[in-house]
Amino acid sequence: MHDGCFDQAAGLRRLSAPRSAKVIAITGGKGGVGKTLTAVNLGAALARLGRNTMLLDADFGLANVDVLLGMKARLNLEHVVSGQCALEDVVLTASSGLRVVPASSGSINMATMSRLQHAGLIGAFSHLMEPLDILLVDTAAGLSDGVITFSEAAQRVVVVVCDEPASLTDAYGLIKVLSRRQSSCRFEIVTNMVDSAAQGRELYEKLLRVCDRFLGVTPAYLGYVPNDDFLRQAIRRQATVVEAFPSSPSARAFQRLASLADGWTPVARARGGVEFFMERLIGPELGIAAGVQ
Ligand SMILES: Nc1ncnc2c1ncn2[C@@H]1O[C@H](COP(=O)(O)OP(=O)(O)OP(=O)(O)O)[C@@H](O)[C@H]1O
Ligand SMILES: [Mg+2]
Repeated sequence: MHDGCFDQAAGLRRLSAPRSAKVIAITGGKGGVGKTLTAVNLGAALARLGRNTMLLDADFGLANVDVLLGMKARLNLEHVVSGQCALEDVVLTASSGLRVVPASSGSINMATMSRLQHAGLIGAFSHLMEPLDILLVDTAAGLSDGVITFSEAAQRVVVVVCDEPASLTDAYGLIKVLSRRQSSCRFEIVTNMVDSAAQGRELYEKLLRVCDRFLGVTPAYLGYVPNDDFLRQAIRRQATVVEAFPSSPSARAFQRLASLADGWTPVARARGGVEFFMERLIGPELGIAAGVQ
């Protein structure tokens, strides 16, 4: 098939493709528990499974996905929001095939964006050239409006915890806020930096008990990621551990998490995953009836 035919065929596929991306927020409450590492490694593992995966760096305070992946972001989401370029222009492709939307530190405030900027952002994601299978969203630490908004808009909320009292109480606080605001949030716990599978499960069960008892919420267990020196080595190389050391304990763990996440069914809606996500994200302010609040 010559190039022209190929372009045409790809164009037709785009037009007819059902856009039912899975949108997964990675969060955790406490800082430094491994949210971003989970996001980049889960993303790389999903990309290596052949899924069209995009990672949105939504830590507008301390954006660092591009640094962890050794990429240089010349343009970022701020330029899209201000209308200086298209979303396609800022998207970087990592060696795994993972596509990354970088953010610049401290520059974007969803809450103070104008209506025009909001609409521009929805449009940018809706008109992505390639339909996405999965959109991962790496969120900031804490319980800021941004974290809440991104988590609420996602179909699944992955909560990363480690074996520290503050991590458990922060994760509990986050689940409490999200579940009170929107009962349909689906939580998936990842226990990180644990010494064994048993320690990971114990930690999950601790969190499950308090969530069940005091909130009536039962988060699912996605799995554990061990404390792994190979992961630290990969960080120094600005690479994902799933690529640099694919048979290391943490890489295997991320591959397991990825195959489970790959099995999740996207929420089937006429308007599809990514558009729906963006509308939910900024819809309440725009007054769009997106089925939230
Ligand atoms: N499984 C692990 N094994 C070894 N070290 C780890 C592991 N997970 C996280 N770390 C360490 O924790 C650090 C913080 O990880 P990461 O940046 O992903 O956390 P974060 O939750 O995104 O932090 P922030 O809240 O600042 O965004 C890493 O730089 C690494 O040193
Ligand atoms: Mg982070």
